[in-house]
Amino acid sequence: FQSGLLAGKKVVITAGPTREAIDPVRYISNHSSGKMGYALAEAAAEAGATTILISGPTQLATPDRVQRLDVTSAQEMYDATMASLEGCDLFIASAAVADYRPAQLAEQKIKKTGQDTMTIELVKNPDIVTAVAASQPKPYTVGFAAETQDVVSYARGKLERKKLDLVIANDVSQAGIGFNSDRNAVTLVWPTDEETLAENSKTQLARDLIARISAKIT
Ligand code: C5P
Repeated sequence: FQSGLLAGKKVVITAGPTREAIDPVRYISNHSSGKMGYALAEAAAEAGATTILISGPTQLATPDRVQRLDVTSAQEMYDATMASLEGCDLFIASAAVADYRPAQLAEQKIKKTGQDTMTIELVKNPDIVTAVAASQPKPYTVGFAAETQDVVSYARGKLERKKLDLVIANDVSQAGIGFNSDRNAVTLVWPTDEETLAENSKTQLARDLIARISAKIT
């Protein structure tokens, strides 16, 4: 595989879910496996990039020649990302970041009450990819869009709103691909055109994505 495509480049990738603590034993999270982000990190390293993988909790092994920073919450992922940006040529946000976190972190385990309902107030987390796209100097910034309908038009909205260079859109309503699967199919949404990559293993798709992206940044 195109071993020198990203030689001399620094790539930072977020992957996996985040966990937002409610109390010492409970959290809010999602079913992201991290597989797409890890595959992208592996492909970037294969292509010769210095590769930093900022990972939420996953069950995956660190790819060869990838520097992995483990984080738990969205705020930690944001902090680790901002601290990794110096000299960064390409940033890929593949993490499934929790949009909200509990407003309060209870210091002790929350006890059952006599009430039938309980309310947890949530506050918005920072949007990591938007912050990277607003940073100076700005790396080439790639986001993901997981949608269940009107995939391309929502992705184009995200591209414009977050000021990204590319959005990789996938239809998470299709069985057997995307979230938690080893396979995926994506549409690349660039500012002026689109390209669909047919269903494939995440490993192969990651290589194809890194090849497409590196053509834009070299
Ligand atoms: O707005 P939405 O969450 O659908 O956008 C998804 C894209 O934004 C993904 O690339 C995801 O990694 C990124 N994102 C982020 N920080 C957040 C929320 C989403 O980097 N707090």
